[in-house]
Amino acid sequence: MKALAGVKILDFTHVQSGPTCTQLLAWFGADVIKVERPGVGDATRGQLRDIPDVDSLYFTMLNHNKRSVTLNSKSDKGKEILTKMIEECDVMVENFAPGALDRMGFPWETIQEINPRMIYASIKGFGPGPFEDCKVYENVAQCAGGAASTTGMLGGVPIVTGAQIGDSGTGLHLALGIVTALYHREQSGRGQRVSTAMQDGVLNLCRVKLRDQQRLEHGPLEEYSQFGEGIPFGEATPRAGNDSGGGQPGRILKCKGWETDPDAFTYFITQAAVWKNICDVIGKPEWKEDENFSTPPARLPHLNEVFGAIEDWTMTKTKFEVMEICNPLNIPVGPILSMKEISEEPSLRETGTVVEVDHPERGSYLSVGCPIKLSDSPVEVERSPLLGEHTDEILKQVVGLSDDEIAEAKEAGAV
Ligand code: COA
Repeated sequence: MKALAGVKILDFTHVQSGPTCTQLLAWFGADVIKVERPGVGDATRGQLRDIPDVDSLYFTMLNHNKRSVTLNSKSDKGKEILTKMIEECDVMVENFAPGALDRMGFPWETIQEINPRMIYASIKGFGPGPFEDCKVYENVAQCAGGAASTTGMLGGVPIVTGAQIGDSGTGLHLALGIVTALYHREQSGRGQRVSTAMQDGVLNLCRVKLRDQQRLEHGPLEEYSQFGEGIPFGEATPRAGNDSGGGQPGRILKCKGWETDPDAFTYFITQAAVWKNICDVIGKPEWKEDENFSTPPARLPHLNEVFGAIEDWTMTKTKFEVMEICNPLNIPVGPILSMKEISEEPSLRETGTVVEVDHPERGSYLSVGCPIKLSDSPVEVERSPLLGEHTDEILKQVVGLSDDEIAEAKEAGAV
């Protein structure tokens, strides 16, 4: 039995943030019923298409293991059907623009009245406050959550990251909130409202930068490259390039072939515990006893020199050779892997982290599988549903409509 078997989820999510959450819950075994507007569906079905008239990879990669029902929840018949679905489901998830569900006639108070055991989970861009009514997409959240101002090179423009920390990151946060509320319901018998804001989710992932903001009041941030370069700090946590955000200095360094291969780089961490191994491997054994280099505080003003010497060595090796040499010496390093390399990596296929999925309209494609592995609840990734593929079966099984009633609802444009 899957961990969340028996949990019914009314999935009103769209685009990326909400669908990330409900896809995870579906992977853990919940029955996720994705509600979509008749004839339209989730906007991402048609966005960034690589094959004409076929659900985009954007959509398929976020909606595995779900069933799709079409429903116009603004029509009278649609509202009637939705009310029945709220009665029958355990969790309702949505990430509409602020106020959309209220305008539809289903504020939290109404949902709770219809089904007091319902857990109502939502994602918005901002929490209560001056921006609570704003629509928000990924990069807005990265900017408003503190990630962009602290990402990029010193003196350069703020940079957004390719990791979708605003959308997928907040979806992950919401999934945790939902299973926590389900656990609580076991004892209380009541559902509750679970809210996450993308700004909050991004900030949660950027906590080390808020840490540094406060450390700045007590002096310069000595592990930042700019300290060794004699560049004064301003009032806010600066952009730190590829400096490590932790107590062990690290940088991205060139490897053999970097002149032509944009990903021939390694991340190299000068962990204090293995400093002597680093000195030996890069051919600087004298630094083991040199008072300018032998201790972590002594090295901080000389990090450019340290990483310059390490890079002289890494440039003579491929990024994988650096890994092979350093790992047995306990030196933490990591190759910069391209998406091409990741998509071809056999070990990621074996663990189900990258999966090949078959789709009736697009054929086979690669997707990211479940990154969380449960020993008793293995995940089988199933293709995303076509628009309204399960409308009839859901209206029968969940809502209890007869064939005639379904035909009537279709006639009225409600489904
Ligand atoms: N039946 C009837 N109407 C439906 C429907 C259905 N099944 N599904 C959606 N709608 C309606 C909504 O009620 C809304 O109507 P309203 O504007 O009259 O209230 C309308 O469709 C559009 O919904 P909305 O959420 O405003 O979509 P949008 O495309 O304008 O905005 C976002 C998209 C993502 C910007 C916005 O939803 C948002 O800010 N969401 C919260 C933050 C978030 O998750 N952002 C990240 C997305 S990856």
